[in-house]
Amino acid sequence: MATKDVKDDTAAAATSTGKLFTRAEVAKHTDTSQDTWIIIHNNVYNVTPFLNEHPGGEEVLLEQNGRDATEPFEDIGHSTDARQMMESYKIGELVEEDRTKDGGKKGKPWSSGNESPSRCCIVM
Ligand code: HEM
Repeated sequence: MATKDVKDDTAAAATSTGKLFTRAEVAKHTDTSQDTWIIIHNNVYNVTPFLNEHPGGEEVLLEQNGRDATEPFEDIGHSTDARQMMESYKIGELVEEDRTKDGGKKGKPWSSGNESPSRCCIVM
């Protein structure tokens, strides 16, 4: 009799690098030129070797060290090249509890899209 042994590994496959960090852990790595970690879209990057190479300059990265830089990163409108480049600096991801649900993008409070108009005018 063959017994089916189907393993459900979906939880284990949740991260590509396997390493998980809390925001508090990332915040400890702020030793400027020695140890600069940033969070972008719930992923953790060690950008120390990239500081000198960043086309936008090291200043902007240093300003974000230990922090979530998702918003400034997206505000710049980085290219797909930049997005591919950052993969090489990825060292892990945030633990489930510290993640932002939408991948780090903050929703605009004035455009939820789901609301019906609260007021309407009748012109007589
Ligand atoms: C690992 C993370 C990052 C990578 C790999 C990266 C890569 C790049 C690249 C390749 C460019 C050239 C333009 C482009 O291709 O889009 C660029 C420009 C720039 N980046 Fe980043 N970047 C990173 C994070 C950040 C962060 C966190 C900030 C802001 C806090 C930032 C601010 C800028 C600025 C201001 C420019 C110059 C834009 C311009 O001159 O028009 N970058 N970055």
